[in-house]
Parts: sequence; C-alpha cells; structure tokens
Amino acid sequence: LQTLPPMQLADKYFQIFPEERDPLWQNPCHDKRHKDIWSKEKTCDRLPRFLVIGPQKTGTTALHSFLSLHPAITSSFPSLVTFEEIQFFSGPNYNNGIDWYMDFFPFPSNVSTDFMFEKSANYFDTEVAPKRAAALLSRAKILAVLINPADRAYSWYQHQRAHQDPMAVNHTFQEVVTAGPASPRELLILQRRCLKPGAYATHLERWLHHYQPSQVHIVDGSQLRSNPALVMEGIQRFLGVTPFFNYTQALTYDESKGFWCQRVEGARPKCLGKSKGRKYSDMTPELRAFLTEHYREPNMELLRLLNRLGQPLPAWLREELQSSS
Ligand code: A3P
Repeated sequence: LQTLPPMQLADKYFQIFPEERDPLWQNPCHDKRHKDIWSKEKTCDRLPRFLVIGPQKTGTTALHSFLSLHPAITSSFPSLVTFEEIQFFSGPNYNNGIDWYMDFFPFPSNVSTDFMFEKSANYFDTEVAPKRAAALLSRAKILAVLINPADRAYSWYQHQRAHQDPMAVNHTFQEVVTAGPASPRELLILQRRCLKPGAYATHLERWLHHYQPSQVHIVDGSQLRSNPALVMEGIQRFLGVTPFFNYTQALTYDESKGFWCQRVEGARPKCLGKSKGRKYSDMTPELRAFLTEHYREPNMELLRLLNRLGQPLPAWLREELQSSS
C-alpha cells in the first residue's frame, strides 16, 4: 500500500477520476455515512423546500414578493453580490460549498411546517443547474414561470437597454432578433439571451430528467400578472402549505403602477420598484409575427410536454399556437 503527500495524492486521484474534479454537493443528511461525519453543530434544516427557477423576465420577482407575504413561507436572505439572488446552482458560487449556501437561510422556527425557498431566475436555462439542484435538494419542489416567449425576449431586450448594454442601446429589437451568424459576437450573445430561454420545453425536459413531474409546477406568468390571487391559490395547493393565505385580501391592483401590489392598511400599496413593470412601446405586429413563427416548434413541444404531464395549458400558449397554425 502506497500513499503520497496530500496535494500529490489529490493530483493522482483526479488523474484517475477526472470526472470528479467538479464537486456535486449532496445532502449530508440523506446518507448515514455522510451524516456521521457531518459536524454535530450543523443541520440540514437550513435548506429550501422549493425553488423558483425562472426564467428571467417572466414575473419571478413578483412571485417572490407574493410568496414572502405568506406566514409559513420564508425566503432566503438576499445576496449582496448577485442582484439579491443566490445563484448557487448556476455558476461559480457553487464552488463555495453547501455551508455557504445554507448561510443564506435562517434556522426554521418549525422544520415540519416552515417552507423556505429561494428564487434564482437563471437556474431555468442553465445546463448544470437541475443536476446540481437535484443532488442537494432531491425532495424539493420546483416552480417555473412561463409567459409568451416573444414577450419574454422583448422584456429582456428592454432590461438590457435599461442597463446600458451597448448592443441593446445601439440596435433595435428587430436587429437583435434577426441578426445573422456573421453579425458581431456581442450582438449574437444578446440575441441568444433574448431567445434561448424561451425554448421552454428543452429546458423543462432537463429539469424533468432530475425531478419527478409531481415535483414540478408550471406557473402561468400572464395569469400571475392579471390574477395573482388565483395563481397563488394553485401554488399553495401544489406546495401543500398551511395555513391557507388569502391573497385576495393581501393584494390590490394599483392603477398608476398598472400591476398588482401588496395592500397596506391605511397607506399606499407597496409595489415592486421601477425596474419591474417598465414602460416601453409595444412590439410591432411584424416582429410579433416573426417571433411567433420562431417559437412555433418550441411552443408545440411545450404543448406536448404539458399534455404529457397533465398540466393545464396557459392561455397565451393556446393563442400563440392558433395564430401560428
Ligand atoms: P417588464 O418590466 O418587462 O414589464 P422578473 O421579475 O422575472 O424579472 O420579471 C419582470 C416582469 O414581471 C416585468 O417585466 C413585469 O411585466 C412582470 N410582472 C408580473 N407581475 C408584476 C407585478 N405585480 N409587478 C411588477 N411586475 C410584474
């Protein structure tokens, strides 16, 4: 039997098992051998029971704020670096390890009734996220919010303009979505970030490879916008969270914002900030037709997927498929 000093031993080990170079964090409490060597001071209770995975620009911040009003639901602490979201499963933060992740969650006051969650909207379309999430949170429930992918693409473009992305500032939305392969690299990157997350079925299939269909709930983002109380009712049922929270009382439509906001007794409603529900002109009918055509097959795939799962079809999906048939 031979051994080596730690660094050389590690080098040797990863030469033999290169696929183990990237960590895959698992729940230490799901395996007795791991639990036995897990520090006695530590707990596995500081992990989310469900994730809001995105995609970006579908109403995930509104959903996050509505969920946080529920007395039995607790959100993660905001990250100071990544726009409040933890973005653990989707990028370099993953290498910080599970203690780093758990520190974003409070100790639940009651482990069996408290529902902790986090929302990171880029999980949805990040290749590695479902595998990583399922390794650590195999029993978690997953919420994905879907709106018409054409509107999502346009909202992302407007978001980038507001953030002074030179490509979005110097190119019309039409130029972005119709850019051909010979266009500048940065323009194609923006195009990709507008269009790719909207291939919903492709991304959902990846999540369904790691999670049971019963763990995944599709939220109709248009309905979340127009009738959030109804959507929150369905989410509460899916999560099995008690007590039942009456969102009809908790939310109110704010005319000047043009969106649903939190009702505050004796004061103005508490709405999301200016960056959520931006004012911009409508997409031209020609562009809408172009995007309807672009998403025809991806939307057909989504239809087949939702039918297979027995999940209801969002109204926007029916309309899109009718207008492109
Ligand atoms: P726009 O600003 O383009 O209108 P996300 O939080 O995932 O980034 O999504 C932002 C989008 O949420 C907004 O996009 C807006 O249309 C939508 N939204 C839905 N309900 C909302 C609400 N109650 N308040 C503000 N925005 C809401």
